[in-house]
Amino acid sequence: MIKPLRGMKDLAFEDAKKFEYFIKVASEVARNYGFSYVETPLLEETALFKRSVGDSSDIVNKEMYQFIDKGGNDVCLRPEGTAGVVRFFISNKLDRVPQKYKFFYHGPMFRYERPQKGRLREFHQFGCESFGEASVYEDYAIIEMMATIFDKLNIGYKLEINSLGCSECSPKYREKLVDFLEDKKDKLCVDCNNRIETNPLRVLDCKVQSCQAELKDAPKITDNLCDSCGKDFNKLKELLESNGIEFEVNKQLVRGLDYYNKSAFEFVSSEIGAQSAIAGGGRYDKLVEFLDGKPTPAVGFAMGIERLLDLVEVPKSCREGYYFGAMVQEAVDKLIVIAKEVKKSQKATLEYSAKKLKAHLKNADRVGAKYCCVIGEDELQNGTIWIKDLVNKEESVVEIEQFLKQLQ
Ligand code: HAM
Repeated sequence: MIKPLRGMKDLAFEDAKKFEYFIKVASEVARNYGFSYVETPLLEETALFKRSVGDSSDIVNKEMYQFIDKGGNDVCLRPEGTAGVVRFFISNKLDRVPQKYKFFYHGPMFRYERPQKGRLREFHQFGCESFGEASVYEDYAIIEMMATIFDKLNIGYKLEINSLGCSECSPKYREKLVDFLEDKKDKLCVDCNNRIETNPLRVLDCKVQSCQAELKDAPKITDNLCDSCGKDFNKLKELLESNGIEFEVNKQLVRGLDYYNKSAFEFVSSEIGAQSAIAGGGRYDKLVEFLDGKPTPAVGFAMGIERLLDLVEVPKSCREGYYFGAMVQEAVDKLIVIAKEVKKSQKATLEYSAKKLKAHLKNADRVGAKYCCVIGEDELQNGTIWIKDLVNKEESVVEIEQFLKQLQ
């Protein structure tokens, strides 16, 4: 028997319902915030991710589904959504239009990680990317929108924020940090030692406890921000406070992707086990330029849908649509015509075998129909249909023509 690959999952029944419901709620919120839907390819040139997510990141270093295709191209399955949307933005020359663009997307991402609860090799993200807005108000709006999605879904969270500085303050801070880390080299793990040169900021979120103990007194980026980054970070905190969005400043929060500057944020849940990050994002003002576009400020986020499924509750749906059944086989052809009309505007379920009334009522109940509609011998002769409203239990017999007219 062929099974799905390790770390990859089928999605069906209750989980599929939750998934659809999540996408519906999140997409509605995104549209309300002015975002429009974009779909980009799952497969892109490997160089796109190397240049954006970063050569030193775990994602690029260890986790890419990378291969040479039949045309000899070095390609890989997207490990995240931002790089593809930025590539789309530039290749459609939107960077040359003096206008703000906002896009949302959802779909599968691929990372060759060690699978565990909440950590898959194929997982789905819902994400938003906003281009052309440098104001910190947009960082706030993005966080507010994430909080709105979680609130609408009744999902509790803890919000952590940090600032990673800009091209003015970040290099100076980096030097300070490297000096500090060099002195601690012997006490830090191998990964940390490698990162001192490639990406010293990532040392700060090392998960090894002994490393964390050594890093207690490390210089913090938020104490080393330039005036402009400091002002923006304060404004962001002020906006969150005045609008009732609770948060904590996590000075160690650096995110695992290289493209961020200024605001970085993560939403975590205490209800889903060790893989607790349910969403993450931040500002990435240099990425468009870095991928050969015109300088364009940008900020965005992505949510991990699988991690949210345990927390999503689909509201009990009320009965909807029509169930059609025949008590004599000749009536089925008639029902086909009626159901076709109904399906133009509403849900219709049709049973192809003639059955007794009791069996049809049971079926209608099982599929959650609002109306059970049946044609027996008498109805077939009279051109009528028997209808039971399964909510208020009223029964009636109406002419088929009349019934179809009422639908319009
Ligand atoms: P990320 O933090 O790498 O950010 O991923 C976002 C979310 O995807 C995580 O918070 C987590 O919920 C989910 N996720 C990540 N890896 C896995 C996995 N192996 N299995 C299940 N869920 C996972 C990004 O991807 C950025 N592109 C976000 C962004 C958009 N920043 C700016 N714009």
